[in-house]
Amino acid sequence: MNISRILSLAAAFVLGASAWAGPIEVSLAGKGAPIQPTMYGIFFEDINFAADGGLYAELVKNRSFEFPQDALQGWKAFGRVEVRDDGPFPRNPHYVRLHEPGHPHKWTGLDNEGFFGIGLQEGATYRFSVWARVPDGGSATLRVKLINPASSGEKQYYTREEITVDSREWKQYELILTAPQTDPKATLRIFLQSRGTSVDLEHVSLFPTDTWMGRPGGLRKDLAQALADLHPGVFRFPGGCIVEGTDLATRYNWKNTVGPVENRPLNENRWEYTFQNRFYPDYFQSGGLGFFEFFCLSEDIGAEPLPILSCGLACQFQNDSPDAHVSVSELDPYIQDALDLIEFANGGTDTKWGALRAEMGHPAPFHLKYIGIGNEQWGEEYPEHLEPFVKALRAAHPEIRIVGSSGPDSEGAQFDYLWPQMRRLGADLVDEHFYRPYEWFLSQGARYDNYDRKGPKVFAGEYACHARGRKLNHFYASLLEAAFMTGLERNADIVHMATYAPLFAHVDGWQWRPDLIWYDNLRSMRTASWHVQELYSEFKGENVLKTTMDGASVSGAEGQEGIFASSVIDGDRIYVKVVNTSAELRVVPIRFTGLKKGQRISGVERVRFTTDKLYEDNTLDAPEQIAPVRSAFSAIPSTAAERAAAEGRRPGPAEARSRDRSLEVSLSPYTFDIYVFELK
Ligand code: AHR
Repeated sequence: MNISRILSLAAAFVLGASAWAGPIEVSLAGKGAPIQPTMYGIFFEDINFAADGGLYAELVKNRSFEFPQDALQGWKAFGRVEVRDDGPFPRNPHYVRLHEPGHPHKWTGLDNEGFFGIGLQEGATYRFSVWARVPDGGSATLRVKLINPASSGEKQYYTREEITVDSREWKQYELILTAPQTDPKATLRIFLQSRGTSVDLEHVSLFPTDTWMGRPGGLRKDLAQALADLHPGVFRFPGGCIVEGTDLATRYNWKNTVGPVENRPLNENRWEYTFQNRFYPDYFQSGGLGFFEFFCLSEDIGAEPLPILSCGLACQFQNDSPDAHVSVSELDPYIQDALDLIEFANGGTDTKWGALRAEMGHPAPFHLKYIGIGNEQWGEEYPEHLEPFVKALRAAHPEIRIVGSSGPDSEGAQFDYLWPQMRRLGADLVDEHFYRPYEWFLSQGARYDNYDRKGPKVFAGEYACHARGRKLNHFYASLLEAAFMTGLERNADIVHMATYAPLFAHVDGWQWRPDLIWYDNLRSMRTASWHVQELYSEFKGENVLKTTMDGASVSGAEGQEGIFASSVIDGDRIYVKVVNTSAELRVVPIRFTGLKKGQRISGVERVRFTTDKLYEDNTLDAPEQIAPVRSAFSAIPSTAAERAAAEGRRPGPAEARSRDRSLEVSLSPYTFDIYVFELK
């Protein structure tokens, strides 16, 4: 053992480290597989109020009066309010008629409760809009207020403005309201202010004017920014189980989510009924965040769009009877939906669906390259249903890559059955899902090392560390995700996409956790898992570098002391990712082999992601308490000869010849480090 190792072991001892591990060898002899631009992405599903009440910035719930049990769900009517169903938008026929209250001291109008309230930010402006008419002619005045109904002050309202409705024909009216103070749970109130007339209202809407990219009727800025900041390479939408629906009638039908928002029909959300212990009887999909918006968002954030479509199987968790699904012989409309979607995304503006895209404001194609058929399907019925899609898609669009599924489990009978089926059908990628506990993540570092290299590529399409008894976001779970992801990176030749799931959760409306990003009506918080995803994306690199410990992949295997590692090269930068999953400080040499004559390598930066709040995460009140820390890292790896000289001895012949360079890094317990080196 040389002197420097003795010294570092002594240091480790002083610092309380239990072991020296390694070395981690990073070979610069050649570049490994390219890392796909799609490698790290995001998976969006409307679960946990991710769309309405979340990313979609609409603040009015049930804006079209279409909630099926009660057209006024989310509203509180006063005076004489009538619900009618012969409105101007055929797919959303309901609207309300506000009648003259019939007494000079009474009022007619409506309150809307929003999604767990309406979030108002002091000084921010809000665009109120409504489709309205005066059915009997003349004009009517509406007084629109943002209020705090629980206020104990002189007045309940924060601000108010008026609109005059002056036509028998349906027209859209709008006004801007400025919030004088912050209230995360305000209410919208509309009075029929004038007397002697009735007025009809439809599609009542309130949006912050400051949306993502300033788009009217657009996305909530902080949430969309949290997606953009992940630098995602792929954007999978719209789910998840909502693709399948609790029944086929409520599956996600993309055609219902394009065209004017006023005429996009309401859909029941698959998560409305899922858990009785967290039950949301008012969970519907307005479709305002639809396929056009998903494609635009993909473009905005530079991610390849990956739509997933129904394969004709309703959610298999919720349906045992074969009758719940469409039979293979009746699949044509579903296949046509897939073909039409490709036309909507990529077709010329002279095609039916391409023309609609242009009409919606995007004449240029979206350059769709991938499509998923079926979400998390299983059983013989899945390949049976998938096969005709594959045939039709290959015939019409050989350029589109098809994503199939390996079912809900990371291994086991269904997984073993479905992978060969996907191979047989020639799927380009297979979507694997794993919500698994600590032990699973710790044991799966080498999962992809021995996968068949000739078959479909892997899309790790839904994954998250779910600890038994601790099924919520916390740092330690994110650390194990980081450890596992070294194996994704090392196997970038076969793993082409990976997306954590689910993405979003409203603190007042979640059904499933952990999730990547949490929010209330005004604030949002990026979890520790978000930071792990971000770091992988930011330090994605161009090519894998062979990284080993004792000749084996560094995957937390026996004898590797809980260390996981992988490395990539990115131009003249090398990113070495090392995860110490153990409770001990580890001193680990990183040795660079395969350097060419005259090549120099030097440290530039270290990003350290760790905390002593192991089982905690960021919160809305402390959104950055767990975050990576970046620091300069100017260490220069030394040659064996240099180390011998430092030890005051002559290098041996092998040491004198070796161009390998190494340096030791100290990994604190439970840490994810990225070391950035420059190669010259
Ligand atoms: O991400 C939550 C759910 O998990 C998805 O909807 C489904 O695909 C999986 O079962």
